[in-house]
Amino acid sequence: MHELNIVVDSAKVAFEQAATPAELENAKALFLGKSGCITELMKGLSALGVDQKKSRGAAINQAKQAIELALNERRQKLADAQMQAQLQAEALDVTLPGRKRGQGGLHPVSLTLERIEAIFGSMGFDVAQGPEIESDWFNFTALNTPEDHPARSMHDTFYVEGGSVTAPNLLRTHTSPMQIRYAVQHVKRHRATASAGQVDEVLFSGVMPEIRVIAPGRTYRVDSDATHSPMFHQCEGLWVGENISFKDLKFVFTDFCRTFFESDDLVLRFRPSFFPFTEPSAEIDIQFQRGPLAGRWLEVAGSGQVHPNVIRNMGLEPEKYIGFAFGMGPDRLTMLRYGVNDLRLFFDGDIRFLSQFI
Ligand code: DAH
Repeated sequence: MHELNIVVDSAKVAFEQAATPAELENAKALFLGKSGCITELMKGLSALGVDQKKSRGAAINQAKQAIELALNERRQKLADAQMQAQLQAEALDVTLPGRKRGQGGLHPVSLTLERIEAIFGSMGFDVAQGPEIESDWFNFTALNTPEDHPARSMHDTFYVEGGSVTAPNLLRTHTSPMQIRYAVQHVKRHRATASAGQVDEVLFSGVMPEIRVIAPGRTYRVDSDATHSPMFHQCEGLWVGENISFKDLKFVFTDFCRTFFESDDLVLRFRPSFFPFTEPSAEIDIQFQRGPLAGRWLEVAGSGQVHPNVIRNMGLEPEKYIGFAFGMGPDRLTMLRYGVNDLRLFFDGDIRFLSQFI
């Protein structure tokens, strides 16, 4: 019996020392294999008498079971260890942030344009879009700036090859051409309706809507520094009727600025200026009463009463129709609203800058 205990103990030690499943199987062969200890001991039984055989056989079997138990325990231990090692190796750090699908958003200038459209829309203004490649006529001549007029040098124009005086031949330097484009269409449409006998001949008589439109969009000039970009945005405004005066311009634009900047005590200043398409003309400056820009006058738009020659080019009689126009810079409004001091940041396409506005 003592001998069997030694066999069982040495099997346990051998199994414990096996560091891998393969080593364990080799150790198993030494005890339970075809020529292993237990098998050899079984073979010895044949030499014994019946009674001895019975008791000796039972003892060997017990030893065999003890060895098998130890083997299975060790197998399980090694399998667990292997699983642990694998889990460690393939560890998943659940504290890492997940991979999100990037969330897009509108460009800050687009947010401003949407805001401008919403505010003027609430005041009954239509929103019009027009071509960025313009003809000389719409960009300059129709706006009371004939060829050789010195005011043309106020704009550093990108000219397009191959154009003619009437064909598109430049990148529009401002959105003001939309005054003419929109008004001409408006007048034509209503004259056609009138001549079909459907309404009164008189425009804007209550049956006909006045011209009340804004035209936001891209504009181009040969210019580039911290406050100028060769491509920039403008938003034109035009309100023409039979009795629209400078006081209406003041009211509309003040209301717009206060709503846009969410500041009821914002102050406006109309500073005399010159534009060929308005007479009189004014630059519009604003002044915040609070915040980092408080107290400074900041220019935001050009404006004025539409020049009689421009009214004529719209297809209307200047003796009868009058109105105001303005042109503002949405890029500048965006810079003021968010406190950005370099215009070029908007157009560099740096996602680290742009994503701050989402
Ligand atoms: N078009 C002018 C510019 O780009 C801005 C402007 C001034 C527009 C006066 C207007 C206006 O409609 O009345 O400098």
